[in-house]
Amino acid sequence: MSFNRKKKKENNGGYPPFLNMWKFGNLEIEGKVVLGPMAGFTSMGYRKFYKKFGVDLSYSEMVSDMGLIYQNQETLSYLNTSKDEGPVGIQLFGSEPDNIKKAAEIVAKTCSFFDFFDINAGCPVPKVTKSGAGSSLLKEPKKLADMVRAIKSVSDKPVSVKIRLGWDNSSINFKEVIKELEEAGVDMIAIHARTKKELYLGKPHFDLLKDLKKEMKVPLVVSGNIYTLDDAIEALDITGADAVMVARGGIGNPWLIKQLSHYFKTGERLPDASLEDQKKYCLELAQSMIEEKGEITAMRIYRSIAPKFFFGFPNSKEVRSRLAQSINTFEDLKTIVESI
Ligand SMILES: Cc1cc2nc3c(=O)[nH]c(=O)nc-3n(C[C@H](O)[C@H](O)[C@H](O)COP(=O)(O)O)c2cc1C
Repeated sequence: MSFNRKKKKENNGGYPPFLNMWKFGNLEIEGKVVLGPMAGFTSMGYRKFYKKFGVDLSYSEMVSDMGLIYQNQETLSYLNTSKDEGPVGIQLFGSEPDNIKKAAEIVAKTCSFFDFFDINAGCPVPKVTKSGAGSSLLKEPKKLADMVRAIKSVSDKPVSVKIRLGWDNSSINFKEVIKELEEAGVDMIAIHARTKKELYLGKPHFDLLKDLKKEMKVPLVVSGNIYTLDDAIEALDITGADAVMVARGGIGNPWLIKQLSHYFKTGERLPDASLEDQKKYCLELAQSMIEEKGEITAMRIYRSIAPKFFFGFPNSKEVRSRLAQSINTFEDLKTIVESI
């Protein structure tokens, strides 16, 4: 069956429902599976590999506005993107509208391919919050809204913001934050259904986001403990969101992306990946990261990724600890993986 793109634009109701189309600014997103930004993980090599499994939208790791302004080489490397991984957004963090604006201008000049800007208003790390960035911005919704305006004043690309429920249980204010952001012209909001204080622990509170989508003008993406297809279905059912974000649940399990993508397009459930598949994916992702970062850096990072591919398989404990401790080269990785 083929579908006419032009017709799609004219009549949203004419979309076949399994395509799950949604509009994010001028971008047409063709599915419900978002790869969440994760500092230290979701670099270009990671995103390119995950894209093959059906990611519909992804983000860079968070990029410091001041790092860009001072032309820090490591910060600039977070802007590596490639044509075949889109749509991809560059996620900025900072605390002042003027600086985020300058950083957005640098991204526009430096970054070869990107589709949207995102502002991080969820990071709970003290180094970030102490500077007034990340989830600290939840305490200053008007300033956060001004940061959206600041980027919009220098770019035509869509701008999204990634938030949390609030700072802590006694200051849950996501509805106020969303209202301010919508007034500023934000094009999409992703919400991690925990407070800053909860960090990454405990069950996310999707119940607090019940039917949130109905109250919103812009698309909504939801995040929090998406480890299985049923987690994703539940999060979408409760919130009515346009898409769901896979973060930790996808580390070592790229097949989860395929399971979600396939289900949302066809209604069919795919079985979990076999051990042989996992061995293959583990080596392929390593190669993709080596292509981007070189062997030494990629393999250093890979010590925290490789063991995750084998979690849950019988007798894998010893192998996982070898992977976490003794990979320096791709050969080391291959030898251990092939011994499994
Ligand atoms: C190691 C790690 C790094 C993360 N880095 C970022 C980041 O750079 N920007 C961001 O907005 N969220 C970041 N997150 C949050 C995730 O995108 C996601 O919202 C969160 O982990 C909740 O989803 P999960 O419970 O399915 O992992 C990070 C999470 C983890 C675990």
